Amino acid sequence: MIRLENVTKQFASGSNAVRDLTLEIADGLTCVLIGPSGCGKTTTLRMINRLIDPDHGRVMVDGVDTRTVDPATLRLKMGYVIQQTGLFPHMTIGGNVGTVPRLWNWDRKRIARRVDELLELVGLPPPEYRDRYPHQLSGGQRQRVGFARALAADPPILLMDEPFGAVDRITRERLQQEFISIQRSMRKTVVFVTHDIDEAVIVGDRICLLKMQAEIAQYDTPEKILTRPASEYVAEFLGRERLVRRMSVVRINPQTLDEPDGGPRTGEPRVPLSSTLTEAFAAALSSPTERAAVFDGDRYAGAFTATSLLESLRRESVEGGDNVAAGV
Ligand SMILES: Nc1ncnc2c1ncn2[C@@H]1O[C@H](COP(=O)(O)OP(=O)(O)O)[C@@H](O)[C@H]1O
Ligand SMILES: [Mg+2]
Repeated sequence: MIRLENVTKQFASGSNAVRDLTLEIADGLTCVLIGPSGCGKTTTLRMINRLIDPDHGRVMVDGVDTRTVDPATLRLKMGYVIQQTGLFPHMTIGGNVGTVPRLWNWDRKRIARRVDELLELVGLPPPEYRDRYPHQLSGGQRQRVGFARALAADPPILLMDEPFGAVDRITRERLQQEFISIQRSMRKTVVFVTHDIDEAVIVGDRICLLKMQAEIAQYDTPEKILTRPASEYVAEFLGRERLVRRMSVVRINPQTLDEPDGGPRTGEPRVPLSSTLTEAFAAALSSPTERAAVFDGDRYAGAFTATSLLESLRRESVEGGDNVAAGV
């Protein structure tokens, strides 16, 4: 567990980057730090691996005050991924990924095996990519290498600072999905910085939404943040597309379905009752009838229509978040 206790950092220029921040990050979850530019996200992240030391307060990792740990040793246990990847340009991809295991003095065979395993994991076939140089890769591929390098010695903690911020939207969405599926099996403790609420909702188990000087506006699950913004500030940060985003976390309310006692019409796409509204609506739109047949297991539950969509959203707001997808 990572715990920041009353942490403050003021830079010499006078800017108070982080003021009295107390934050607990549970083991095995992805905690997203999000907020406007300059609100102190990067500073907060870098205080965890001691690239920056706080002026006041302390950072505890697994109950140990990080000030008592040598920074280099501390960082061996924390993978660090940044937007600019920080790959060594004159080193091969394999050499880059093997950086931390070399520092740990692993033997060469073990490093080679680990490098190939990781390149495989991030979707870069080792025979093709291992001996290339960073400039011979696309932005998205370099980002994958940065991620593989951070994972190399299997650190329990990953710190990621806008890791997918520099790639195009399609690549970013693919990287997000890959990150989620890898994280699902690894269950690292991840602190993930972004300024993009869509990304936060997709990758986060928890979202910590910050105001300037790293003041916490809301620290909650993505579902709660989207459906129960704690303040006007949070609602505003979510923006006008909030409703659309809520569709991706709210599930179908069975009471909003049309003709529950009927049967599906021929050619209507089928979706499970556990679908989110986005999934159900996408299916409905793909049908000539603009309806999707909803099934609760084998049982036909009714037809999902545009009215079901609006009603599900509306009832969810009125009745409270029971119908919200868990662990988006
Ligand atoms: N090395 C530095 N020297 C002086 N000021 C800094 C430094 N790093 C960050 N700051 C200032 O601290 C504030 C928070 O910065 P940062 O943590 O990078 O924000 P974020 O990552 O949320 O955009 C900003 O006002 C920024 O200008
Ligand atoms: Mg930053």
